[in-house]
Amino acid sequence: MDRRETYMVGCGDVAVRYMRRRHAARDAAFFLPHLKPEMRLLDCGCGPGTITVGLAEAVAQGQVVGVDLEESQIEAARQTARQHGAANVEWRVASVYQLPFPDRSFDAVFSHALFEHLGEPAAALEEIRRVLRPGGLTAISSPDWSGNLMAPRDPDVEQAIQVYKAIQQRNGGNPYVGRDFGRLLQEARFSRIALSAIYDCYEDAPLVAELLAQRIEEGVGKQIVAGPGLGRAEVGGLCRALRQWAKQPAVLFAQTFVDAIGYVDA
Ligand SMILES: C[S@@+](CC[C@H](N)C(=O)[O-])C[C@H]1O[C@@H](n2cnc3c(N)ncnc32)[C@H](O)[C@@H]1O
Repeated sequence: MDRRETYMVGCGDVAVRYMRRRHAARDAAFFLPHLKPEMRLLDCGCGPGTITVGLAEAVAQGQVVGVDLEESQIEAARQTARQHGAANVEWRVASVYQLPFPDRSFDAVFSHALFEHLGEPAAALEEIRRVLRPGGLTAISSPDWSGNLMAPRDPDVEQAIQVYKAIQQRNGGNPYVGRDFGRLLQEARFSRIALSAIYDCYEDAPLVAELLAQRIEEGVGKQIVAGPGLGRAEVGGLCRALRQWAKQPAVLFAQTFVDAIGYVDA
């Protein structure tokens, strides 16, 4: 399988619980107005498929294919489809860099929370473009960590987030990819580009804090992170601070996502 970077979020219980809270009405809201009931859609990096099944509802007379690099996520997605009674969706293990579909075979390609993990986003967009028919569109959404809003302010929590971002970069990803979407889509020759941004406000702050703390601990375990004066003990302290911070009665963890649409000329 085509792996060009390390997907640091992994497929553990906390990661999958965190993904499962997502749904099309919110996380694909920017894409839904572009859909028609008979369209054929592809969702790249579909994870447990909770957004994908909502897209399948939106194209009730069409067809949706969800692809993910991880077999375990495709299994989880099959389960999601069974729970939702989604009959017009199928699932494939595949990489966004090497989609197992002919040229011009989809009306639209969606991808949520994948591009921040990719070392070669331009290559992924070229491959997405290859499978789109003329007149088709792509809709991509990823965080840009520069826009996050975390309250109450806590310097240790802010430092923990810096460490998380450094680990993501060392793994080949880009925590600021959202702001690059306009340029990337232009370079991949998409037109009628539309950019917007939303806050994803995590209703379960302890869950997102746990996910981030685990990734930081793993990064330290693999010695892929160390800033000046930041040893294992200091990073352990930052993770404890992050978990404690999230348990407070009034916490805001708001993450900026950039949403982008681009069309292939007809
Ligand atoms: C953060 S999850 C997002 C899942 C889902 N789209 C959502 O927003 O809930 C990213 C997913 O992309 C998958 N992934 C990572 N690299 C990939 C690649 N090169 N091609 C396809 N999927 C990939 C991971 O296995 C993971 O399931």
